[in-house]
Amino acid sequence: MVKSSTSYVCQSCGASAPKWSGKCEACGGWNTIVEEGIAPPLGGGASRRVKGRKISLEDLKTEDAPPKRRPTGIAEFDRVTGGGLVPGSALLVGGDPGIGKSTIILQALGKYAQAGGHAVYISGEEAMAQVRMRAARMGLSDAPLMLGAATNVEDILATLESGKPPDIVAIDSIQTLWTGALDAAPGTIAQVRTASFDLVRYAKASGAALLLVGHVTKDGQIAGPKAVEHLVDAVLYFEGERGHHFRVLRAVKNRFGATDEIGVFEMTGKGLAEVANPSALFLGDRKSAAPGTAVFAGLEGTRPLLCEIQALVSATTYGTPRRAVVGWDTGRLAMILAVLDARAGVGIGASDVYLNVAGGLKIGEPAADLAVAAALVSSFGGEALPRDTVFFGEISLSGDIRPVPQAESRLKEAAKLGFKNAFIPAGTKADAAGLALTEITSVAELLRFAPEPTLRREKTLGRGKVES
Ligand code: TYD
Ligand code: MG
Repeated sequence: MVKSSTSYVCQSCGASAPKWSGKCEACGGWNTIVEEGIAPPLGGGASRRVKGRKISLEDLKTEDAPPKRRPTGIAEFDRVTGGGLVPGSALLVGGDPGIGKSTIILQALGKYAQAGGHAVYISGEEAMAQVRMRAARMGLSDAPLMLGAATNVEDILATLESGKPPDIVAIDSIQTLWTGALDAAPGTIAQVRTASFDLVRYAKASGAALLLVGHVTKDGQIAGPKAVEHLVDAVLYFEGERGHHFRVLRAVKNRFGATDEIGVFEMTGKGLAEVANPSALFLGDRKSAAPGTAVFAGLEGTRPLLCEIQALVSATTYGTPRRAVVGWDTGRLAMILAVLDARAGVGIGASDVYLNVAGGLKIGEPAADLAVAAALVSSFGGEALPRDTVFFGEISLSGDIRPVPQAESRLKEAAKLGFKNAFIPAGTKADAAGLALTEITSVAELLRFAPEPTLRREKTLGRGKVES
């Protein structure tokens, strides 16, 4: 172990600074900078550059068939990876602590081993007995999965290299890894990166598919998955709201597949169960048609997904109106409020606005704009939206409703779940799938859901001056 010098590295973004400070200049994180020993530069710098070896350059043509993927047998997991793990690739599964990363990995590997594959699970966080207990709970005790408990990368590599390379090897988690080559503490950016890099190199050389688990960290005391995202071929995030049972596995980077796919699971007493029809789950049991709820016909990857958007507009009790958003982008909400005000005269701006995507789902699609606007107008106007109706469409700053991709599969999904009407952008070319379609050209047309908007605007602004 050669300690050449030290540097101060932000554990959140990886930026290095010449001296310690309370705030990272690069990412703005507080208390994230930690002193780390740095390895001597590889190659020794320009003056001491070692002579390299000539590598052969080749053209793009290939006779090789693409490597056979290794599906784990958990359909929702395989969907997100793009059809199974690619030999020699590295995949990172990130997520909040306790969200279920270890559970899904153990289940996937257990299932793969049960089907006759060679899988190795190395846990750096739990003792073997704990992993066995978890496996027993999920009914995987008989799976011929190889278990190990280790945190030192040299040990892990020596173990893996001693036998036939596994088809899949999982390391849980990268934050516990350390290499003797550095004298930084485990969990620091330098350790996490170096250890992960060595494992990725092993995967590439041996053809094993590597699964790395990484905790998302908020306080920056240990390095998060962001520190290794660039090293791996695919990054999946496991998300979910506390208090809700279902979890969404989402690809944010995938060199071998699409990045907008999601897999939906439900956490049960026996591990994670696959949810084949998420629309039914996210719509839940809708009983009353209250003002402020609109059903959005969305799309996650190739799969249509219906969910309920709930808005509550109420008079402000404090000077500044409150905005609280769960499952959607706050900036986008501000934009829609501004467009509604400017293009349709719906003055919600001075009221408190609460927006919630039911079931803890997170929506990133602009196609949800129309459903959000309809929910807002409906809550503001105090009138429920028509029953059995779905909405989709993107709102532009001019107030126009723009068409969105794959209208047809959205409509089909809505029809499948018993919806009768759809409000869609004007100019959408799609088969109605048996639904009654209403084309919307601009946000002003949403006023049909809110009688006398101007009076209501005064009512809010003037704090009850005019009662409609
Ligand atoms: P875990 O996979 O340990 O989370 P992570 O590895 O992301 O930190 O999941 C832990 C949570 O899952 C814990 O709160 C208990 C719950 N759980 C169940 O509800 N059912 C189960 O069968 C298992 C194994 C875990
Ligand atoms: Mg875990």
